[in-house]
Order: sequence, then C-alpha cells, then structure tokens
Amino acid sequence: MMKSKKINRKLAVPEAAPLVLSLRSVGYTLETALADIIDNSIAAKATEIHIDVKWNKELDYISVRDNGYGMNEDNLHQAMKIGSKNPIDPRSHDDLGRFGMGLKTAAFSLCKRLTVGSKLLGSNAICVRVWDIDNIMDSNRWELFDDSSTSAWKDALSRFGNYGQGTIVVMEKLDRLITENYSDQAIGRFWQRIADMEKHLSMVFHRFLSGAQAIHIFLNGQKIESWDPFMRKSLATQEFREEFLECNGKSVCAHAFILPHHSKLSVKEYDEAGGASGWLEQQGFYVYRNKRLLVPGTWFKMLRKNEPGQLARIQLDLTGDMDFGWKIDVKKSSAAPPSMLRERIRRIARTAQEASRKVYYYRGAVVNQQIKAEDNDAIWEQASVRGRTFFRINRNHAILKDAGSELSADAAKKLNTFISLVEGFAPMNASLTGPVTGESSQKNELIDSAASFCSDLIDAGYSSCEALRKVLQISIYEGMAEDIKNKLQL
Ligand SMILES: Nc1ncnc2c1ncn2[C@@H]1O[C@H](COP(=O)(O)OP(=O)(O)OP(=O)(O)O)[C@@H](O)[C@H]1O
Ligand SMILES: [Mg+2]
Repeated sequence: MMKSKKINRKLAVPEAAPLVLSLRSVGYTLETALADIIDNSIAAKATEIHIDVKWNKELDYISVRDNGYGMNEDNLHQAMKIGSKNPIDPRSHDDLGRFGMGLKTAAFSLCKRLTVGSKLLGSNAICVRVWDIDNIMDSNRWELFDDSSTSAWKDALSRFGNYGQGTIVVMEKLDRLITENYSDQAIGRFWQRIADMEKHLSMVFHRFLSGAQAIHIFLNGQKIESWDPFMRKSLATQEFREEFLECNGKSVCAHAFILPHHSKLSVKEYDEAGGASGWLEQQGFYVYRNKRLLVPGTWFKMLRKNEPGQLARIQLDLTGDMDFGWKIDVKKSSAAPPSMLRERIRRIARTAQEASRKVYYYRGAVVNQQIKAEDNDAIWEQASVRGRTFFRINRNHAILKDAGSELSADAAKKLNTFISLVEGFAPMNASLTGPVTGESSQKNELIDSAASFCSDLIDAGYSSCEALRKVLQISIYEGMAEDIKNKLQL
C-alpha cells in the first residue's frame, strides 16, 4: 500500500509592492473613481459633500470631505485595509458598498498617496491613516502611517474643521491624472476632465441630488445640479407604467420613459438632455443600485443602439442584495441581468424602442407649422387625427414650460394629464367621431395613446372604471373600450 503524503499548509501572503501596483490598474476612470469615494460618504449619511480639486505650481490634490457619521480609529484602520469587509456579508438596505475595496482601489487608480481623516460626533480629535505607494514599493510592506504633514493634507484639512463629524479623503501625488507639465494647454485639458467628471456625478447621483431629502455635492464650492435622464419635468415626456420583474423572490422595477421629440425641446434643452455621451449612446436601460446609477444606458447586448431608439430610456431599480445575480463589479459601473429575466427584459426593451421610433419619426401631425415655432405664444396648435383637424394645447408655451420646470415630476405628470383632459373635452374637438380609417399602424397608435392616457388617469387617482369611462367619452377614442382593456389588462 502506498503511504499517503502528509499535507502541510504554507502561507503565501501577497507581496505588497506588486499587488498595490496591479490594484492601480483595475480600470477606474476619474469619473468612476470619484463616484466610488462619494458612495462611501452617502452610505455614511452625509448631507453635504465637498470635492476640492487643486492644481497649481505648488499644490495638486483632490479631496472629498463629508459630514457623514465618520469613523473611530479602529474602524478607520480597518477601512484602509484592502478587502476591509467580506463581500458576502449582508449590508444595510441603503449601503452603496459591497466589496470592501472601493476607497483604496479608486484612490490608487488616481494617486500615490491616500490620506483619510475621520471624526465622530462629540470628538475633537481627527484620526488619520495614510497609504503611500512609494513607501509600499520601497518596503514591500503594508505599512499604514497614522499622520501626515504634507502641505496638501494641511491645506485640505483647513477646510474640514467646521464639521462636528465627518470624513475627509485626500489624494495626493496624482501621477495618473496629472501626466503633463504645468502649462496652459495641460491646465485646459485638466479642467476639461474635471468638468466631464462633474457631468458624470450629476448623472450618477441625480436621485440623491434632488427631492425633499436632497444631499448637496459641491465641486470647488459650486453646487452640482442633478441631471435627470428621463426628463420627468418635461410635459412632453411619455411615461410607461412600472413593471416588476420577480427573480428568486426579489423584485426589480422597470420604468420606461420616451423622451420628447426634438421639436418639443429648445436647442439648450436638447443638448442637455443628450447627456454626457450624447443621445445615441444614452438610450437603453439605466441600471440603479439603491438609487445610485451604475450603467447609463445599455441594451445588455440584446438590441443595438440606433437613432430611432434614442428617445427610449428605462429606469431599472436593483437593490444591494442582488449584486451577485446581476454581476455588479467593484467599480460599480457594469451589470448584467440574470438569465431568468433576459426574455422579459428583451421584451421591455423592444417595446420601448418601438415607442421611441414612433415619436422619433413623428412628422406632419401638426398641420399649421407657423404656430409650431418653438417659443411661440399660441395657446392652441392644430394636429391631424384621422384626417380631421384636432386642437391641442401648445406644450411649448413659455408659461407652461416655465411652470412645468418648477414642478416635481409627479406634479408635472398630473398637470399633463389634466391638459390632456382639457384637450379631450374641448368643444371644438367634440365633432371628431367616426370609425378609424387609414393604416392599421395609425389605429395602433391611437390605441396606445388612449391606453397611456387611461393609465395616466389611474395614476392621477381615478379608479380604472372611471378612467376608462372618461377616455371613452373623448370622441377620438370612442369604441376602443376592448382595445384599451386588453392593452392595460384591466
Ligand atoms: N466617508 C466615509 N464615511 C464613513 N465611513 C467610511 C467612509 N469611507 C469609507 N468608510 C468605511 O470604510 C469601509 C471601506 O470602504 P470601501 O469603499 O473600501 O469599501 P466598501 O464601501 O465597504 O465596499 P466597496 O468596495 O463596494 O466600495 C466602508 O465600508 C465604510 O465602513
Ligand atoms: Mg465603498
């Protein structure tokens, strides 16, 4: 008989120097790195976050300071370790973290020296920990300093003093960001990158930056405004009903929006709504995890991005307990649906792309082009429905647009529903009766619009019976009861 060999265990601890160098290249961009650091501030319940970016001849650093609940010395020490938390441990429902890596990997992708200071409420002392990659390279050891005296740290810290509690993250020796000598051109390029980063943050955190409980993020003292991909405040945005996709006992919410035809937007509105990557790129699903945007526009390789589909944007809400099913990555910038959901997601995608196509190719329905000028003063505009003239309220009227932009998304939607009611029951539109003629696609469009109007009324508080009755009283929707019921599954 063969004698079995005794198996020994030998430690194989990762080498500090090569590992830290590899961690610098996990693929963050300036935008995704800053977003990951801000995630931590939001998870710590900060209401105010300041990003300070400095680059002059004497000083260069980026700091992120917040008034969140901070950390004590032990927690800070733990937080600075690579892999400070176990990714399989449950997290609170609003935690934006998962892997115990983000702070370090994001910072190392930009800089060689990371200093974190933190203060708990009621404590005057700020505890400090510093990683310096040059030191790790020299010593090949994970040596963490407990203080810093660099001018960047002092400069950043001088702005942090006023908070009763909070955390400050300072990134110095920005060798991955500042790769050129100080010159006018290099400075211009640097600040352009910072401006791009600002756009990204206003998109990624837009749901935190608006609303009653809004938090405030400042970049060098300037407030970052929220950028809503769905133009919820625009009265011309079409909103679909939310759909809930069940998978393994968890529910994902999909909420589709079709953005307005470009003729309904001013040049400025159109440019802004295109977003950081432009209209074509920004179509598709917007994947959120605990309200934080991970992916701004993807069809998950199920459909191609195309021009007519560019008005379709679909909010997809995930929670933090779906991370592994959806393959969320450390950088919080990618996700893929579990195979069980792919068919339903594909169907939602197709429906939204088709709805976008209809709006995109919308032409000629407005009869009187003269009164369709973007900033016109006309109250009514004429459209053609079933070959007859139909009057509708000019959604581009300056006062209406102005009022709409000041309303919450919910109030804007209700106002829009009310305006549709006014149009439907306007005496001059009452004579539009008769069977639907023309192409079947035209009829389908009319059914879609009746069904979406009916669902808006239900959202506004009508019962489904009342909403249906109201819609059927509108002459152009006469006789469509069954179609609407089928469409809405009433
Ligand atoms: N600004 C902050 N305020 C309070 N605690 C913080 C702050 N930043 C980091 N921490 C603490 O440090 C820990 C480590 O942060 P890190 O970003 O490295 O990992 P994570 O957030 O746990 O997970 P992920 O890798 O997914 O971001 C956090 O879990 C949190 O406890
Ligand atoms: Mg984190």
